[in-house]
Amino acid sequence: MGLIIVANWKMHKTTGETADFCRSILKDEKQFGEVEVLICPPYTSLTTASGILNGSTLNLGAQDLHWKQEGAFTGEISGSMLRDLGVEYVIVGHSERRHVMGEANARIRDKVKAALESGLKPILCVGETEAEREAGSTNSVIKEQLLAALEGLGTGEMKSLVIAYEPVWAIGTGKAAQPADADSACSFIRQVLQDEGGSETAGKIPIQYGGSVKEGNIGSFVEFDSIQGALVGGASLQADSFSALIQAARKAVQS
Ligand code: 13P
Repeated sequence: MGLIIVANWKMHKTTGETADFCRSILKDEKQFGEVEVLICPPYTSLTTASGILNGSTLNLGAQDLHWKQEGAFTGEISGSMLRDLGVEYVIVGHSERRHVMGEANARIRDKVKAALESGLKPILCVGETEAEREAGSTNSVIKEQLLAALEGLGTGEMKSLVIAYEPVWAIGTGKAAQPADADSACSFIRQVLQDEGGSETAGKIPIQYGGSVKEGNIGSFVEFDSIQGALVGGASLQADSFSALIQAARKAVQS
């Protein structure tokens, strides 16, 4: 399985800044080789990004979606609206949605289902808080989040997923997980996927690490067979350094 590196811009960039970034990163497209690169701008920049990335090897993702396709949900955006803009992936269950916006496991499961029904590939985020890690419950938290989100999915649907392991305490803190700890969490995730969908299905689902990933540390994560890429926040905001991060990841798996 190849690498997939995802830029999660969160609430950053106007349409003008999005256009500058996309034009700039496309200059390095050939250097990315077989690495799949995905940009997840805010909703307001999706059309701009789609117009510039269209025809390139870079793909487009959204950061969230609503669990219904339409209805009286002021301020919300549905999966079918995202597909309409050329979006292929959508992040679901990001820690900021879980812990800042209060989204529970049941809501995240509904969003995973809505994404699949719309033809979007969900990037399902899971990960423990610092207190949960200190209490020794990392694996049980991850398992609970995974099983809740996978409930009712067939193996065909499971194969459309990407899983991102993002320990909450590593996000935006500059304190990335120890690569060996990320390896053990990602291996555990693979085991849960295998128990749920069998090894053929589990083998088709990329598992990423996220949390303070940058050019200088990406190699130490992706060199583990258990980790097929990264979900990158802060270090994805500048085209030059994000490009360098992607190229470092590519180099690490080639060597
Ligand atoms: P940082 O890379 O800024 O730590 O953010 C990680 C993240 O939340 C990506 O979704």
